[in-house]
Amino acid sequence: MSIRNVVIPVAGLGTRLLPATKSQPKEMLPVGKKPIVQYIVEELNLCGMDRFLFVTGRGKSSIEDHFDIDADLIRTLREGGKEDLLSELEFERLGVNYFYTRQAEQRGLGDAILCAEHFAGSEPFVVALGDSIIGRHHRSMVVERLIRAFESEGADCAIAVEEVPREQVSLYGIVDPRGDGDLFEIADLVEKPSLDAAPSNWAIAGRYVFSPLIFDAIRRTGYDHRGEVQLTDAIRLLLTDGKKVVGIRLPRHEKRYDIGNFESYFETFVEFALTDPVYGEKLRILARELSGENP
Ligand code: UTP
Repeated sequence: MSIRNVVIPVAGLGTRLLPATKSQPKEMLPVGKKPIVQYIVEELNLCGMDRFLFVTGRGKSSIEDHFDIDADLIRTLREGGKEDLLSELEFERLGVNYFYTRQAEQRGLGDAILCAEHFAGSEPFVVALGDSIIGRHHRSMVVERLIRAFESEGADCAIAVEEVPREQVSLYGIVDPRGDGDLFEIADLVEKPSLDAAPSNWAIAGRYVFSPLIFDAIRRTGYDHRGEVQLTDAIRLLLTDGKKVVGIRLPRHEKRYDIGNFESYFETFVEFALTDPVYGEKLRILARELSGENP
């Protein structure tokens, strides 16, 4: 793959997951055995990415610790005869370079991406939201498809989208797709529209590819009523400038797990736990027992 750079914004406050996120990043919450950010790094590394920039903020240093090689822990496991656990630390040696920068104030996703300007330089780059997993225990290649679409279409932005129930459109950035193919041009997009204003029920699904033109577009995007710079509004400016924005649809087996609120976090954890190759069977028995119980 020609694109190697990934930006993962993880600076958000995660207020919808309080109190769990009071003193730990939501991006480090476990889903099954792993924290969310580890799924993301593994997914993108399989697609050939090997330079990751985390846009972090206050209270997020455990993300940096997680990806360090922890020589003391390795020695302790060896000396304690727990060699079998070393395989759980293999992700430390993916051959990835990690970079970190800080968003000084939590002023929205667009503002967080602007912090990556020096890292990206004049090269296109991938953005993967730090609170979204793609595909259950599945090796999602959606970013590889996104990069192929970005390059073959000569686009300045490529976005993965997922169909959501119509009554949920106000929770997401929603695109207006031209045509119904798997790869399509995006005519417009709008952040968290009302049901009436939504151009479709296809939601932006947490994975993007951008050319560096996005930085100028973010700078020209104003703050919204909450004092945040929305990435969706900056992409809209690319369209206004006559630039090409394309979308690809997530297949059902590569659905997006959004860990932004408790309902979806609980659903995601339960789904991953119930389908775990080691623990899943026992948990499914427990779930059947519990579902037969009176509340
Ligand atoms: P969200 O908007 O879902 O995250 O951002 P949030 O602001 O943490 O959530 P709430 O509303 O307070 O619960 C999606 C991703 O963008 C990052 C978040 O860390 C998350 O991974 N983000 C968001 C930033 O890096 N900076 C921001 O200013 C906002």
